[in-house]
Amino acid sequence: MEKNAESSQAPTPGEEDLSKEIEELVLNLPTEKNWDGSYLYQYQGFWCPSRHIHGTISFQRRFQAQDTDIILTSFPKSGTTWLKALTFTIVNRFRYELKDSPLLTTSPHDLLPVNQIQHSTHNQTPTLEEFPTPRIFATHIPYASLPVSIVNSNCRIVYICRNPLDQFISNWHFLLELREQTKEPISLDEAFEMICNGIQAFGPIWDHVLGYWKASAEKPHKILFLKYEDLKVGINFYVKKLADFLGCPFSKEEESRNVIEEISKFCSFDNMKKLEVNKNGRLNDGIKTKVFFRKGLVGDHTNYLNSSMSERLDKILEEKLGGSGFTFKKP
Ligand code: A3P
Repeated sequence: MEKNAESSQAPTPGEEDLSKEIEELVLNLPTEKNWDGSYLYQYQGFWCPSRHIHGTISFQRRFQAQDTDIILTSFPKSGTTWLKALTFTIVNRFRYELKDSPLLTTSPHDLLPVNQIQHSTHNQTPTLEEFPTPRIFATHIPYASLPVSIVNSNCRIVYICRNPLDQFISNWHFLLELREQTKEPISLDEAFEMICNGIQAFGPIWDHVLGYWKASAEKPHKILFLKYEDLKVGINFYVKKLADFLGCPFSKEEESRNVIEEISKFCSFDNMKKLEVNKNGRLNDGIKTKVFFRKGLVGDHTNYLNSSMSERLDKILEEKLGGSGFTFKKP
């Protein structure tokens, strides 16, 4: 099985210089402690996690997009895992029958790793040319900070967003799971205060979403903008839409064989969550795979946030998004 995750063994020429330059640059960036005790750096207007900063800059400077590439983009905890599973399955449906899918034994995150993390691994530049076509990459970097070749080439971008209240609760649980057990977790109230100020990995969330929203309005053939909540209520429609957008539409014959419905079911939360690899596995970088499958619901924030908290964030979002024409889905 081919994986989208190989990296070259020898450091790339110039990599040491880049590391030094990045170390110096990071010293001068504003910084905040993230909820899990790790650090965030304010880089190009967004809060970049310390473990992503080197990879982000290396990705920006080195990545050469090809016209056939597919770039999956998202704000963390907004449905990235689902989008990866769907895209991989749709695009590779003639290579792998569902019963032989690599997703049965490999996490979507190992099949399609986040690109800036790949660029960080061992200070090496991944040998991306060897990936099968179409190459599928994933990143959380905001639109304005994407590598120039992604914006200028004819590659396609798919973006998924999610209601920030649910995204917050999802992220809160995720970081609690990942934190070093020795570190005292930040309280929900403290974390909430931070997101109200836009401080979380790749935040502010409103800037992230608006960047992709505006770009998709300008270039609808290049950027497909999706909402987690829409997928939850009409996944078959979006599987079809995704396939059309990616240039691999379903034939009438496939439709009559219910291929769309089968892909939807295969990539569903219930099906993915129960696979051994997603229950008891670990990613190549050691993270437990089960942390990517919690509840998969719309509106779970109502179980954690009181109405004054929800109203406060809703009001901030209204102000930040005002006049853009964009609104988040509410449960
Ligand atoms: P919850 O924590 O609310 O359950 P990301 O993939 O961007 O990290 O987002 C993770 C969120 O997506 C988690 O939300 C997770 O449960 C949910 N999720 C993962 N796979 C999913 C799927 N196939 N369908 C729907 N939701 C899914």
